[in-house]
Amino acid sequence: MTAKDSMTLLESRRLDSLVATEELAKEIVLRLKPQQIIGLQGEMGIGKTYFIKALAQQLGCPSIEVNSPSYAIHQEYHGTTKKLQHVDLYRLESEDEIESSGFWDLFDGSPDSLIVIEWIDRINLTTIPQNYSYLRMEWERSKDDARLVHLYLR
Ligand SMILES: Nc1ncnc2c1ncn2[C@@H]1O[C@H](COP(=O)(O)OP(=O)(O)O)[C@@H](O)[C@H]1O
Ligand SMILES: [Mg+2]
Repeated sequence: MTAKDSMTLLESRRLDSLVATEELAKEIVLRLKPQQIIGLQGEMGIGKTYFIKALAQQLGCPSIEVNSPSYAIHQEYHGTTKKLQHVDLYRLESEDEIESSGFWDLFDGSPDSLIVIEWIDRINLTTIPQNYSYLRMEWERSKDDARLVHLYLR
């Protein structure tokens, strides 16, 4: 059983431009729950970090800050009303590293944090606190090389 088996497919959307990604980020920000996690899965270069930049911009963070963290797996950006917690698990060596990194402290129930995780499948999702709304975004390339993103909700 994979993580998404217990999730509901909300929508599949074609993102054939950066503007389409920005539009999706805008819609998602309008629907954010106070305790919200967004998990992203999809190959390198598919547009995960760009989507997070677009989220950051919507939240009023200085978007210039957002990049793929090369050493730290976690970065925090300050928006006008929310903090964006950006986690990139690409370089994660083991689940032990997660335990010792303070990762789980992010789930402190604070309503002013939005937690966004790239390469979400590197951790065991069943341990994500149930009091959080969890939006999973699965990215793939369409045959004509556009991006296709599937949105699942728990
Ligand atoms: N919806 C999109 N349409 C066209 N190009 C995109 C789109 N999203 C991202 N890109 C481009 O793809 C490249 C890789 O995106 P990035 O967000 O770094 O991928 P990832 O974080 O998944 O590795 C960037 O140069 C970005 O401009
Ligand atoms: Mg990235």
